[in-house]
Amino acid sequence: MKSFIYFNKAKIVNNELANIQKLSKIGHFSSDGYFTNLCRKWLIKNTGCREALLVHSCTAALEMCAILINIKPKDEIIMPSYTFVSTANAFVLRGGVPVFVDIDPKTLNIDPNKIERAITKKTRGIVAVHYAGVSCDMDPILKIAKKYKLYVIEDAAQAILSKYKSRPLGSIGDLATLSFHETKNIHCGEGGALLINNPKFIKRAKIIRDKGTNRDLFNQNMVKKYTWVDYGSSYGLSEINAAFLYGQLKQAKKITRKRLAIFKLYHKLLENLEIKKLIKRPTIPTYTKANGHMYYILVKNNKRDKLIKYLKQKKINTVFHYVPLHSSHFGKLKAIIKTIMKNTNYASNNLLRLPLHTKLINKDVSICCKNIYSFFKNKK
Ligand SMILES: Cc1ncc(COP(=O)(O)O)c(C=O)c1O
Repeated sequence: MKSFIYFNKAKIVNNELANIQKLSKIGHFSSDGYFTNLCRKWLIKNTGCREALLVHSCTAALEMCAILINIKPKDEIIMPSYTFVSTANAFVLRGGVPVFVDIDPKTLNIDPNKIERAITKKTRGIVAVHYAGVSCDMDPILKIAKKYKLYVIEDAAQAILSKYKSRPLGSIGDLATLSFHETKNIHCGEGGALLINNPKFIKRAKIIRDKGTNRDLFNQNMVKKYTWVDYGSSYGLSEINAAFLYGQLKQAKKITRKRLAIFKLYHKLLENLEIKKLIKRPTIPTYTKANGHMYYILVKNNKRDKLIKYLKQKKINTVFHYVPLHSSHFGKLKAIIKTIMKNTNYASNNLLRLPLHTKLINKDVSICCKNIYSFFKNKK
């Protein structure tokens, strides 16, 4: 019987479980221990950030960003609406107002040409979401941020080991966030990291991660007792997850190479459908080096949902992506829309993500593509 081709299959790739077993010898299972430090060093070395704090999710890292840049009620923060809910919710939790601008139809990242008109006296920052691990065009974003004295936060949830020009993503904004959720290239079930490039945030970020206490100074014998000194929450990642994550990080480059090979194969096999104007394939601008996080197609003539159904019958699991935040119930209550959302709506209605994970073999990719061709041949 033909087996199912899954959209994602999170895997154990190395010595994740052996690392976890080592913890019984080490005897430290909560956050900020031996494996947290190894992951921290790996992240600093491979992303070029100044400091890296492991946290329990990218959502947690985004919430820390909102506290760090002192978001107050009615402060505005510019971002795409085509993103995951946490990008916006982290700021709404502090009383902030997400201000949505449309995306560039080529990359599905925030359109830098539309940012300036969204800036007001209340604007505090710009969140650059690197969709599908493909970099936003950072130079114009940084230029605008400098002109209006705004913070830049990279939501690099999907973008570990991608680059903008020669710079690793996560090393460009004042702050950046990564996700290690099981759907990401590198995972530990649930996990994330806050990457810090602006040194003024380092000390306070550690306090915020430790429930608003100066426990970090206490651990370094710099204070006699630790105490409540600021806002904070329990944002740390347990050593159990960090031990697992370190096993994955050690394989990160190999995983990325494998994912990029699958991406390239899809891209080659689907070329003819783009020539026939039945689909549009992803655009990877020359300024970015991507990480093979996702392979998507934009299906023309409103056929996306029919194609999902067709592929499901053929035992191929494909999925759409974000419901734009500006059209969601809470988005309508809490956010401002600053541009027409034509490209955002188009992506939401027509984008289809194809199976991509490290257990996928070339034959699976050709089966997926053959079935996409047969869908269009049969004029469904
Ligand atoms: C762009 C973006 N930001 C933030 C998140 C939240 O990540 P996490 O599940 O680690 O909180 C996601 C999750 O998929 C995401 O895609």
